[in-house]
Amino acid sequence: MKKQTQLPNTLTTPSFIQKLQWIADPVKYMENAAQQYPDIFTARVVGFGDTIVFVNHPQGIQEIFANDRKKFATVGEINKIMQPFLGDYSLLMLDGDHHKSQRQLLMPPFHGERIRAYGELINNLTKKVFSKLQKDLPFSARNVMQEISLLVILQAIFGLYEGERCQKLQHLLSLFLDAFRSPIISSIFFFSFLQKDLGAWSPWGNFLRQREQINELLYAEIAERREHPEKDRIDILSLLMSARDETGKPITDQQLRDELITLILAGYETTASAMAWGLYWIHHLPETREKLLQELDSLGDSPDSMSIFRLPYLTAVCNETLRICPVVMFSFPKIVQENVKILGYQLESGTAVVSSIYLTHHRKDLYPQPKQFKPERFLERQFSPYEFLPFGGGVRRCLGEALALFEMKLVLATILSRYQLALVDNQPERLQRRGFTLAPARGVKMMITGQRTDRESLMTMATTSAL
Ligand code: HEM
Repeated sequence: MKKQTQLPNTLTTPSFIQKLQWIADPVKYMENAAQQYPDIFTARVVGFGDTIVFVNHPQGIQEIFANDRKKFATVGEINKIMQPFLGDYSLLMLDGDHHKSQRQLLMPPFHGERIRAYGELINNLTKKVFSKLQKDLPFSARNVMQEISLLVILQAIFGLYEGERCQKLQHLLSLFLDAFRSPIISSIFFFSFLQKDLGAWSPWGNFLRQREQINELLYAEIAERREHPEKDRIDILSLLMSARDETGKPITDQQLRDELITLILAGYETTASAMAWGLYWIHHLPETREKLLQELDSLGDSPDSMSIFRLPYLTAVCNETLRICPVVMFSFPKIVQENVKILGYQLESGTAVVSSIYLTHHRKDLYPQPKQFKPERFLERQFSPYEFLPFGGGVRRCLGEALALFEMKLVLATILSRYQLALVDNQPERLQRRGFTLAPARGVKMMITGQRTDRESLMTMATTSAL
């Protein structure tokens, strides 16, 4: 990559220290940098090539998103880091026209209208997973949300409901994606010299073997579907298998495999962390929970999923959760192709830029008292797509946004309407790196303290005895 002589607000901390800070505690790293340069700064962090310009001001973000097909290449180093997971045909590895046409092929099954068909499934899976939890026994909300979100993906995306293949995939995928569980383990993806197959016990060797087993299962499922196609299936894999590109060609097996893994990687951890954060904030602030329960109860017994989805306070709670704890820290980096001006700074071709979701969501001028959880902000005013951007923006805006929001609202509503939950301790949670995402460091420890029907009957008893 060509080096630009004058980059905006270059951080002066030695490069290797910046890299270590970025891997170990990206939030602290970004906040320290933004204290010095709130709108735009140049960092030297691992995973982005030599230097990268962080843009944290809505106007600068608009300048990037509005021009991203014309003036930027959209596959940066970070996408390449994910190649061992995703393969060469993944949407994340494609740029320009290839990306555009593959995205058009993938988009229809993720449209809001289609997603509605999964309401009952999400509801039932949440009930099933929660029915296994015992009263007064602590559990990690993040792990439980992960189980729900993986089952939603296996059923809604793969159409796998039960059987040996489904169970094996569920087990292998959760192990595979656990490779991101700590900053240390994640670093094998950032440093290629650590990517050595030293047998099944070495981190990289283990990763390669798990990937092989997952591939076998996925290819077996694809082959079986091709042999016995069923017209009525509504899962995303079936819809993709019947899709044709503009030249009339169907998607190949390898493309299908790569896209399936991409959808899991992009959709599983992200949605699970967002839902765990939702549970955390709702139970950390009793008045938020009370308001939410009042709103949910106003829908009466067995409300339909669209009425839940449209609830204004629930929507505000989910938005505020994604604002204060954005699961994805930044939108995918972009490389300047022809000289471009951002926030008045001239950036030359070859410069890497990134729109910082985390720092924009924590700007005091947009969100007064940014560290406080206040869903009301989203009821009081509308934020532009450059001010509130948990799903990124421009040509790579999240494909799974409708599914993620639908799932988040339905899962939270189902849990809250049925159970009384409590956080196990009062210690505040904090954001920790989990691969390319931010997750609650302690996993949000909670327990079930009662069924909501119990509470209602207790309340009835209390009122009766008082009479
Ligand atoms: C709360 C959950 C989620 C969050 C916060 C999230 C966030 C994001 C962000 C920030 C991007 C990058 C956008 C950009 O560069 O501007 C992205 C891309 C993407 N997401 Fe999500 N995502 C979530 C859930 C999902 C789900 C459930 C799926 C699918 C099952 C999904 C599929 C994708 C795909 C395929 C891309 C790449 C799009 C492209 O390259 O054209 N995401 N997501």
